[in-house]
Amino acid sequence: MTLVDRVVFPGSFDPLTNGHVDIILRGLKVFDQAEVTVGVLCNPDKKYLFTGDERVALIKEVFSEYGQRVRVKSFSGLLADFLRQEDVKVIVRGLRAISDFEYENQIALMNRYLSEVETCFLVASEENSFISSSLVKQVAGLHGDVARFVPPIVAQALERKFR
Ligand code: PNS
Repeated sequence: MTLVDRVVFPGSFDPLTNGHVDIILRGLKVFDQAEVTVGVLCNPDKKYLFTGDERVALIKEVFSEYGQRVRVKSFSGLLADFLRQEDVKVIVRGLRAISDFEYENQIALMNRYLSEVETCFLVASEENSFISSSLVKQVAGLHGDVARFVPPIVAQALERKFR
């Protein structure tokens, strides 16, 4: 058996939610000898609320106390290429509900085909199972309270965006 010393948790993180934090913390526990790289997708064709730099900075701040165990890097293009570049063989993704599985299964198989990596699914806690970045943006955009769904610095950043 080979020790897993690096895993990547990829996503758009527009913005980071408590659901993402939950999965990253679970990843740190399950892969307790590994460095967890949060891979922030910056697709030039996609419109994001937060720029790539803003998304990376927010995640770095939330995980600042974890030092070398949590790295945050942006990537564009294929995740498979980013994994090769980082020399990582394990992807971590969160599952909130059965409805996530179909899409996640497709991308896991595609990524395995493209770069022979395994995807490890971690299940979010029930209280985070309905949270998504898009819902959070919708609620924050309508000036609803999102404090329960995102880390405090993300709530402040959302407030500034929609002020
Ligand atoms: O947070 P998201 O938007 O659900 O994350 C999706 C992500 C970033 C994991 C996925 O879209 C991705 O890896 N995109 C990069 C392009 C790519 O590699 N596509 C082929 C395999 S899905």
